[in-house]
Amino acid sequence: MTELRSDAWYATGGRNAYIHRAWMRRGLPDSAFQGRPQIAIANTASDLAPCNSHLNEVAEHVKRGVWEAGGVPHNLPVVSIGETQVRPTAMLWRNMAAMAIEEMLRANPIDAVVLLGGCDKTIPSLLMAAASVDLPALVVPGGPMLTGTFRGAPLGCGTDVWRLSEEVRAGSLPEQAFLQSDSSMIRSRGHCNTMGTASTMGLLAESLGMTLPGSSGIPAADSRLLTRAHEAGRVIVDMVARDLRPSQVITTGSFHNAIVALAAIGGSTNAVVHLLALAGRLNVPLTLDDFDRVGADVPLLVDLQPAGRFLMEDLYRAGGLAAVLRQVVDLLDHDAVTVLGAPLVDSLADAEIWDREVIRLRDEPLQPKAGIAVLRGNLAPNGAIIKPAAASAHLLRHRGRAVVFDSIEDFHARIDDPDLEVDADSVLVLRGCGPKGYPGMPEVSNMPLPTKLLKQGVRDVVRVCDGRMSGTAYGTVVLHVAPEAAAGGPLDKVQTGDWIILDVGARRLDIDLPQQDLDAREPSQAMRDRLATPRRGWEWLYVNTVMGADTGADCDFLIGSSGNRVSRESH
Ligand code: FES
Ligand code: MG
Repeated sequence: MTELRSDAWYATGGRNAYIHRAWMRRGLPDSAFQGRPQIAIANTASDLAPCNSHLNEVAEHVKRGVWEAGGVPHNLPVVSIGETQVRPTAMLWRNMAAMAIEEMLRANPIDAVVLLGGCDKTIPSLLMAAASVDLPALVVPGGPMLTGTFRGAPLGCGTDVWRLSEEVRAGSLPEQAFLQSDSSMIRSRGHCNTMGTASTMGLLAESLGMTLPGSSGIPAADSRLLTRAHEAGRVIVDMVARDLRPSQVITTGSFHNAIVALAAIGGSTNAVVHLLALAGRLNVPLTLDDFDRVGADVPLLVDLQPAGRFLMEDLYRAGGLAAVLRQVVDLLDHDAVTVLGAPLVDSLADAEIWDREVIRLRDEPLQPKAGIAVLRGNLAPNGAIIKPAAASAHLLRHRGRAVVFDSIEDFHARIDDPDLEVDADSVLVLRGCGPKGYPGMPEVSNMPLPTKLLKQGVRDVVRVCDGRMSGTAYGTVVLHVAPEAAAGGPLDKVQTGDWIILDVGARRLDIDLPQQDLDAREPSQAMRDRLATPRRGWEWLYVNTVMGADTGADCDFLIGSSGNRVSRESH
């Protein structure tokens, strides 16, 4: 029999093993502690992370599979983050969740872990934690909501909030009708059903090899999710025997596959910071430029909101991720494996498209080049990103005058001022919204347009920001500008009236100003005055250690892995 990590708790004999065993009894037989893999189920179920509140039921099905395969399952509630609920932004807590989960996995007598996540930050934090502990691990994605309809038309979570609220501001939808739509949008258990961050990260967990093939994208209310959860319970026990750990599953090739998938599905820009942070945990050399290099020429094959028409239930019905990846199989890394130990590409052989409107054939793409573009220039020396697939084609090459906002409060106070000098050619610039600045890098980059422009029929203008945007949002938005203004990036010197030049084809973002003139300027005091100055707690630790968006916005002391060893007994 192979030696188990948990033997160090239960099989050493004497007083300490007695303590570890006795307190765990609660009906467990002797055999539970005799060479059987102890499997944690890192469970982000929480009433305050409503997209994940069904995961307790999923955990019960994982448990069945674990028992069946000879393991002993343990539900481990972990820090969970409800994207729509927490302030000031869920991203402030991603690294904290990852750190707390990591430490609890290491501290406990377990041999492997099943990761249950769904809502935006939960799968990233679970993966980062598992990578830094490096115990056998797999993800069961919680799955998207079923499609809700309003006035006969499907409603996309998030995307239609942005769209309908702009319609109200433009005067084309009564406010009362808008408010009525909220009960239709959230039709069932599960996470947002658009191709937002949650859907994206579930699909990317599978692309990385970290789920059972075919698990991601199953609607949360579909009983096949519970079947997969049961199978995952069996597989994780087997992974202990094979000692198959995240450092072996998630390789450079896995990230390559995730980037191809991200482009083909038209996934969230947030995936860029999450994948970079995960790579940092594994010491895999992944850079911002890899997203452009690997992903830029990948065709967009999935017609989902926010860039397209359909929703996650449609994607699953149409064949799911496997059907998408099969179309681009020649672009994938053929050596990268899944938690089953076999190459990801082996699982694609039988994948068919059942609805060619939702999933396009490779030679009939929605867009021939869908990946995220990485921009550089004197406004973003360390890079910025834009998702051309969600932008307006006529704005991808644009020169316009900056209208600068020093904080989100400044933006809200002035954007609808009738005297604000802004037109369809203006470039809205919002700064102080990076990881350090806000703090936490909120989803504010897709600034709402001024009402007076909406009334003129304008639906998009170029926007530039050092924050993120919701994966459910759209528009010609340059985001993740690095270095962020609060860290001394040149964004802090832009003034209203400056000419900003965006050229996505040339991968440039510049302010039309000689470098020495830009250097000679003073940074914005108005922005500095609004920056957070926390004195204690997580916020203090975060602001003082968080790194730039261009490397994943992880905290510097969390990079890498500490492995799964614990140095000392507890008594
Ligand atoms: Fe949870 Fe969108 S709010 S996934
Ligand atoms: Mg989000």
